Amino acid sequence: MPDTPAASTPVMTIDGPSGSGKGTISRIVAQRLGWHYLDSGALYRAIGVAAGWADLDLDDPGALVRCTFDTEIGFREQGDELRVVVNGHDATDELRMETAGAAASAIAAIPAVRAALKDRQRAFRKPPGLVADGRDMGTVIFPDAGCKVFLTASADERADRRYKQLKDKGVSVTLDGLLREILARDARDANRAVAPLRPAEDAVCIDTTGLGIDPVVECVLALVPGYG
Ligand code: C5P
Repeated sequence: MPDTPAASTPVMTIDGPSGSGKGTISRIVAQRLGWHYLDSGALYRAIGVAAGWADLDLDDPGALVRCTFDTEIGFREQGDELRVVVNGHDATDELRMETAGAAASAIAAIPAVRAALKDRQRAFRKPPGLVADGRDMGTVIFPDAGCKVFLTASADERADRRYKQLKDKGVSVTLDGLLREILARDARDANRAVAPLRPAEDAVCIDTTGLGIDPVVECVLALVPGYG
């Protein structure tokens, strides 16, 4: 990466599977540090939703790559929430659905889609710093990040967390169904040829099974040089 002001801006990457807590932890860590935040999964979900609106075939990589270039994605803070605006529509609620996650996971396996999203993700690196969460933040998008974290949790606990989150939002789901979908998505994300889900060699791995949010946040913040 060239030595630009962006390249000297500190980055913390927080990768992990669905339901590992990375979204919640990353947002809090970014707030505590006063850094920007990138939810890279929302970009893949947004492309999935836009492809659905356009009735595109998830087996047509050419159409999906065009859709990736054509889709406008914006983030808007609303109280404690980060709203996602896709082609001018607030798509936050639709993005949260497991169908959007599954579409995102299928689309994310297409190398040209990943390549098309690279620069968009790197553009979030602005002073004073960035916390970026996803699957390949530490391995591919920000390999030079000073702090890399990989969060895990048992599949049962991850399904349980997603279940509670979705229930709170009034979405009707079953725990069994969610567990099956999460396991299928994990397998696809971990086994794809390009940017598979795995910890960077220099990542600190934290198993959040049985842990509340606060201890994980403290553990992650303790990795930031000069914090505290
Ligand atoms: O993190 P989230 O569950 O929102 O991500 C949805 C899907 O997008 C993941 O299952 C994964 O396939 C894909 N994704 C990815 N690389 C990222 C972030 C998400 O492949 N950096």
